[in-house]
Amino acid sequence: MLHEFPRYPLTFGPSPLQHLKRLTQYLGGAQVWAKREDVSSGLAFGGNKVRKLEYIVPDILASGADTLVSIGGYQSNHTRQVAAVAAHLGLKARLVQEKWVPWEDPTNDQVGNILLSRMMGADSRLDAAGFDIGIRDSWKQALAEVEAAGGTPYPIPAGASEHPLGGLGFANWAFEVAEQEKQLGVFFDTIVVCTVTGSTHAGMIAGFAALEDLTGVRRRVIGIDASATLEQTRDQVARIARNTAALIELGRDLRDDEIQVLEGWAGDLYGVPVASTMDAMALGAQLEAMITDPVYEGKSLAGLIDLVKTGDIGKDSTVLYAHLGGQPAINAYHSLWDPAA
Ligand SMILES: Cc1ncc(COP(=O)(O)O)c(C=O)c1O
Repeated sequence: MLHEFPRYPLTFGPSPLQHLKRLTQYLGGAQVWAKREDVSSGLAFGGNKVRKLEYIVPDILASGADTLVSIGGYQSNHTRQVAAVAAHLGLKARLVQEKWVPWEDPTNDQVGNILLSRMMGADSRLDAAGFDIGIRDSWKQALAEVEAAGGTPYPIPAGASEHPLGGLGFANWAFEVAEQEKQLGVFFDTIVVCTVTGSTHAGMIAGFAALEDLTGVRRRVIGIDASATLEQTRDQVARIARNTAALIELGRDLRDDEIQVLEGWAGDLYGVPVASTMDAMALGAQLEAMITDPVYEGKSLAGLIDLVKTGDIGKDSTVLYAHLGGQPAINAYHSLWDPAA
């Protein structure tokens, strides 16, 4: 059923798989691999939203819209990818950038993702509102403003997660993994993914559930919360997973054990790294030259490392870390590695 949804290619093809041999050796098993969404598109450093947008672009084009309207934090990777897709399609982008993170770096609203969005011609405007993954008034206001100015807006909610097609990109990711497993002769019994607005993890849950029904083989898909608003994210993941499962005609309800969002690595606040984030970022960089960010991937990598160290993920496991991008934000966090700070 999934193949019946039109997909507009924005990636180079299947994202590469990489065996993280030095990290594996450091942990003493499990075998750790990464699937690299951060290097799988030529559009402004790529990332997970590009893959979600592949399934949304056909609807954008059919709608006749001339302006993509979206929302995120100052250092949102999502809005940068919306700006990239707008540039690629020859459309305009109107971005609401809220102060989601109390990170007092004077360049926070000037460098990294927001700089890239502005370079790509997006109309990026700051808003003082704090973190919330739900539907925001500021975003509705931006949609109304585009219309009032004679434009035709296309609404893309935060992280493209509440979009009805938002889960399809990562449902398809599950099938892509299964193809790559056949080619490489490996089997990933555990997937670890960062979750905040929810549709990356939710799409994977629906996709791997469909695969399980085809093959009879179960695996764990573990979402690591990086939102620090756990209940809201859990509800959102469950809801989007069920919607996506219905869309791809799974034909059954999802079991509770298929929807696992684990807490413990987000710290107290979205976007603010804690000691485990810093340790994981340093390990990824120093063992593998694999760069992760302090908002998302550093937190999910910290989760993976702890789950392996504590034996929750067994030594005989082969685990796949979904690297969802996010590196441009590190520019706004330069003080973390400033020897003078
Ligand atoms: C780099 C990165 N990792 C993980 C996530 C989380 O994905 P989702 O919002 O689909 O839960 C995001 C976006 O929110 C992101 O930009």
